[in-house]
Amino acid sequence: MTAPRQIFVTTALPYANGTFHIGHIMEYIQADIWVRYQRMQGHMVNFVGADDAHGAPIMIAAEKSGKTPEQFVADIAAGRKQYLEGFFISHDNWHSTHSPENTELAQSIYKDLKTNGLIETRTIEQFFDPQKGMFLPDRFIKGECPNCHAKDQYGDNCEVCSAVYAPTELIDPYSALSGAKPELKTSEHFFFKLSDPRCVDFLEQWTQDGRLQTDVANKVREWIAPGEDGKPKMGDWDISRDAPYFGIEIPDAPGKYFYVWLDAPIGYLASLKNLLQKRGESYDAYMAQPELEQYHFIGKDIITFHTLFWPAMLKFSGRKVPDNVFVHGFLTVNNGEKMSKSRGTGLDPLKYLELGMNPEWLRYYLAAKLSARNEDLDFNAEDFMLRVNSDLIGKYVNIASRAAGFINKRFGGKLGEISADGDALLSHLRDALPSVSSLYAEREFGKAVREIMALADRVNAYVDQNKPWELAKKEGMEARLHDVCTVCIEAFRILTIYLKPVLPKLAADVALFLMLPPENFSDVLKPLGVGAQIGEYQHLMQRVDVKQLDALFAPNTEAEKGTGTPGSAKPSAHAPGGEPLAPTITIDDFAKIDLRIAKIVACDKVEGATKLLRLTLDAGEIGEDGQPKLRNVFSGIASAYQPEQLAGKLTVLVANLAPRKMKFGVSEGMVLAASHGDEKNNPGIYVLEPWPGAQPGMRVR
Ligand code: MSP
Ligand code: ZN
Repeated sequence: MTAPRQIFVTTALPYANGTFHIGHIMEYIQADIWVRYQRMQGHMVNFVGADDAHGAPIMIAAEKSGKTPEQFVADIAAGRKQYLEGFFISHDNWHSTHSPENTELAQSIYKDLKTNGLIETRTIEQFFDPQKGMFLPDRFIKGECPNCHAKDQYGDNCEVCSAVYAPTELIDPYSALSGAKPELKTSEHFFFKLSDPRCVDFLEQWTQDGRLQTDVANKVREWIAPGEDGKPKMGDWDISRDAPYFGIEIPDAPGKYFYVWLDAPIGYLASLKNLLQKRGESYDAYMAQPELEQYHFIGKDIITFHTLFWPAMLKFSGRKVPDNVFVHGFLTVNNGEKMSKSRGTGLDPLKYLELGMNPEWLRYYLAAKLSARNEDLDFNAEDFMLRVNSDLIGKYVNIASRAAGFINKRFGGKLGEISADGDALLSHLRDALPSVSSLYAEREFGKAVREIMALADRVNAYVDQNKPWELAKKEGMEARLHDVCTVCIEAFRILTIYLKPVLPKLAADVALFLMLPPENFSDVLKPLGVGAQIGEYQHLMQRVDVKQLDALFAPNTEAEKGTGTPGSAKPSAHAPGGEPLAPTITIDDFAKIDLRIAKIVACDKVEGATKLLRLTLDAGEIGEDGQPKLRNVFSGIASAYQPEQLAGKLTVLVANLAPRKMKFGVSEGMVLAASHGDEKNNPGIYVLEPWPGAQPGMRVR
């Protein structure tokens, strides 16, 4: 066994101005599968992420929401955990670029670059918004890309061709804050001299020595190659911004801040440092290990930052350079357009979890589609359902359910002898270890999943040939039944180890049921053996229900969206009454709501409130004075009923709702009424009334 490798892995740091979208989750799942695989090989991995907190867009968004930038990014950070844990992403740390570690590291890297003669100040002309009275951040200047002539591109880089440029190079620029035509004003800026021959030589070597994905290396080469003026196209890099700016101050330069993209990748190191500090380990010692490997998982839109600026910054500040950058393509949803950074639409990861959809379905589906190449992939709802139900559950999960019952019922939960045909099958499964393993190592997850499913096909063919359900009915076939079911359990154990990087939770559940500690990859070669005791079979995974997918993609109701034009949403068969079903609850959740029959003893108009009626209700309660205790409830039903229509009727009261103080008095509960999800176009409110015989105070359940 070779010594464990020391591996440092990161995922790109998401801008802290929005919640995660499915593209982020895809990146985390990709990296997480790789990291879990490495850990299962016995390697030591530190896997970190962080929020990218700085920059003008976040500053402006914070201002709009009436928060300080610090509060704004803290609020976003507080929402991260539910996604990361929800999809079983095994980061060791989640930090922020707005942190002492990052400030310290960014300033020291900058100082080292300066000492090395790679920082230069220049007076530049910069766009100034005359209406807003401020220098315009790159992201708030838009115009035509000077490279590919795509319209409405941002001032720092083009989303169409990935070109990186100065905002002043944009054709027909305009201010995205005010729409005004920006004016040029001078200001002193700091530049990282990327065009210095030392940097060019280093980058030519680092980017073209075969480490990068081929298409990535080719793209990057264009930026290093000399242009008509003999200088590389990437030019020097403007790394400073003028106050007001939410960022890290440049040492000895009052009013100047690092451009967010300078300190953002340094955030990888800051998160690692924060992690090691928490563990009481030395960051310097960790980074100084000659054998340390460093990898960054990123999307194709941020290649230049990670393959040019970042390695050069590290190299010329005397630090360790990354071993590689792994680039993935963009995820689209149901053939939709690419999700924009800010508008991420389509599949809301939190809604997915809230609907009770299994996170491992998504992990499996994405794994089955991912390769080591930088190519886009599409989430297709039908394909998703098919792959999960037919492959994951139909081919793999079912192997266990077919065999475990017999082992438990007929053989006291103990495994038996395996004969030659079973041995041959299991050898075939075990022989796939090097191949499955190297596919994971190469990030060819789709190929790995295909290979594992082909093995599952072999196991299912064996089951179909031997028909344990028939063996179970035949006289004298006990031993063969035991043999066949033992082979199935062992095969299932091997397949589970192979799938474990993708399905960590399922693998843990299987480990419980097979009564085994969680396994490493090499445990494929260590069979359970005769007499090994397995546990009771537990249902491992549900099938995807088409209703869940319908609910996932159903447009949110107007109330949820907060905006939108009423009546514009198409009616959906799966949005009964104008809204999709709420997430599933348990009977215990339901039991928390105490519903009682109540008699409306009086009903009155409320002076000054057009929508409300005041109901006086008898829910069978007796006060301390021994007299019937009546409740006062306000209900928004005045548009639908005259008070005299309701007086004397029975209805249903939510009796344990916390009392609510309203302008007109305290409301002590709520009565039930039906209405359409889109009230504007489908008005009408219908109060519930029980069948005759119900008495005030009876519980509704
Ligand atoms: N803050 C920068 C990264 C700084 S890294 C030092 C940023 N943030 S981002 O939130 O816009 O994107 C974070 C990651 O998500 C990037 O790797 C990006 O490529 C990836 N994705 C954004 N949209 C995506 C898809 N639709 N599909 C897959 N990945 C996507 O860029
Ligand atoms: Zn372009």
